[in-house]
Amino acid sequence: MRKIIIDTDPGIDDAMAIMLALKSKELDVLALTTTFGNVAVDLATKNALTLLELADRDIPVAQGVATPIAAPALAPPDFVHGSDGFGNINWPASTREADKRSAAQLIVDMVHQYPNEVSLVALGPLGNFAQALEIDPSIVDLVDEVILMGGAAEEKGNVTPVAEANIINDPHAAELVFGASWPVTMIGLDVTHQVIMDNELLAYIRDNNGKEGDFLYQATQFYFDFYYKTFGIKGCFVHDASTIIYALQPDIFKTEGRVIRVAVEGVGIGQTITAKPEQTFALDFWENRPVTNICLEVDSQRALNLIKSVFS
Ligand code: RIB
Ligand code: CA
Repeated sequence: MRKIIIDTDPGIDDAMAIMLALKSKELDVLALTTTFGNVAVDLATKNALTLLELADRDIPVAQGVATPIAAPALAPPDFVHGSDGFGNINWPASTREADKRSAAQLIVDMVHQYPNEVSLVALGPLGNFAQALEIDPSIVDLVDEVILMGGAAEEKGNVTPVAEANIINDPHAAELVFGASWPVTMIGLDVTHQVIMDNELLAYIRDNNGKEGDFLYQATQFYFDFYYKTFGIKGCFVHDASTIIYALQPDIFKTEGRVIRVAVEGVGIGQTITAKPEQTFALDFWENRPVTNICLEVDSQRALNLIKSVFS
């Protein structure tokens, strides 16, 4: 089984991704770590504990960063995920307690506990990964892979014309994560905008997954309403769950190696600016940067089929 730690800001699509990972037989979810983003970090932690109680899984949850490193903090998008992060369904909150460690410390501890076995899956802003790098830079050589939902190489942004939510929420953290010498795969809007989950698949998940399915169906209705009003779509983009799909079957995606720089200020703040390694540029912005594995295409039907098969 592939060991993963999921860093998350639950969040409706985070909840879908986490339940998908917990249900899959090929993934061993070691822990959830939480960050601000869709909701404040204390609510993200409570929601993560609620998801694990709902799934009846005894997995540690460690609370992480509450604010971006240096960029202006954005208000949680309650118009997308609801003020409770779960589509305002007021699901009973867990009474479980979080791990006493910080998210970053738990990540460092577990990466050392299982050297070269753990993949770090980010579903939110990247502050916990940046903090883990600061605590112990040696983890870059001990992590199997960083798989992150965020950014956009060729696609427009979803918060500004150029910036995707997880990156613009903490652009300095993203710049550090993309600049570290660990293997990083970016699951950005280039592919997540190609995978659309409709109500039929959601109803299937509801009907075949007991209380977890019922929760996901209820929580996602608010999200579907947002998508219909905003994009005229009857369904939703599969953002976070695409990281789990990649972790399970990477060949569903077509990738390309590119150098990434993140705009950390100004009108383009949060933009993931990519360049092919062989391209030469006058400025030294692009030198000595690691190459990130960027997902540019996806077989969306295979991705949706995989979701359905895991939730069967
Ligand atoms: O841009 C989509 C990302 O921002 C997803 O992770 C969603 O949960 C929000 O965090
Ligand atoms: Ca998320």
